[in-house]
Amino acid sequence: MRDAGRTLPRNDPRQYDDLAGEWWRPDGVFAMLHWLAEARAALVPPAARPDALLVDLGCGAGLLAPHLAGKGYRHVGVDLTRSALRQAAAHGVTVVNGDATAVPLVDGCADVVAAGELLEHVPDWRLAVAEACRLLRPGGLLVLDTLNDTALSRLLAVRIAERLPTVPRGIHDPRLFVDARALVAEARRHGVDLRLRGIRPGVGGLLAWLVRRARGAEGGTGGPAPRIVPTWSTAVLYQGLGVRRG
Ligand SMILES: C[S@@+](CC[C@H](N)C(=O)[O-])C[C@H]1O[C@@H](n2cnc3c(N)ncnc32)[C@H](O)[C@@H]1O
Repeated sequence: MRDAGRTLPRNDPRQYDDLAGEWWRPDGVFAMLHWLAEARAALVPPAARPDALLVDLGCGAGLLAPHLAGKGYRHVGVDLTRSALRQAAAHGVTVVNGDATAVPLVDGCADVVAAGELLEHVPDWRLAVAEACRLLRPGGLLVLDTLNDTALSRLLAVRIAERLPTVPRGIHDPRLFVDARALVAEARRHGVDLRLRGIRPGVGGLLAWLVRRARGAEGGTGGPAPRIVPTWSTAVLYQGLGVRRG
């Protein structure tokens, strides 16, 4: 694997091609995305009707898929990166190669829209929020998680996390981080009242995972994966949950 973050500009989508072999490795550089996917899926209720559709914006390699199993949704994933979409398709996701800011799906088609770790990668995140809200049917649910536009977030999620094996170097451009209050206002403008809560990896689980990984054990087999837990502050990583008004 080339060290994509050293040779490409920050947030360059080609990094995901260079890191394609990492998506499904439990101890790989995308490990934290697995933990976040589990926490995101926990916010998604079982489908309330047959043929319910969940649109996963910026689905990557489909890490959400195993956590939706049995909930009764058709899982459609939209992403710019073809190498990731091939893996998502292999995990049962119906894939659409496209931009989350201009999704080729009709208004109101989705019972749930998920946008996990996407908005902080989109040059104009407001356009992606507008699309997410447009896709939702009245009563549909928006579930997202992203990084806040704060000094603490830049310190923890970029300067520190990129020195750990949980975040690829150069994957984030902190200039794109998403101000939590602006996100709530934007979603409201498009008919979704978002409630936010801060989240973080559980400290004990994270330390144990880092130690196991440093010793060379596979995170997936050497012990439980760290859990994502709620925290009092939205200053770094946060989830948003909201229902589309009728
Ligand atoms: C950090 S990954 C998150 C992937 C997935 N949501 C997960 O949590 O495992 C960000 C993903 O967003 C995709 N992406 C970035 N900008 C995008 C855009 N404008 N439209 C669609 N996908 C985009 C990337 O290709 C990448 O797969």
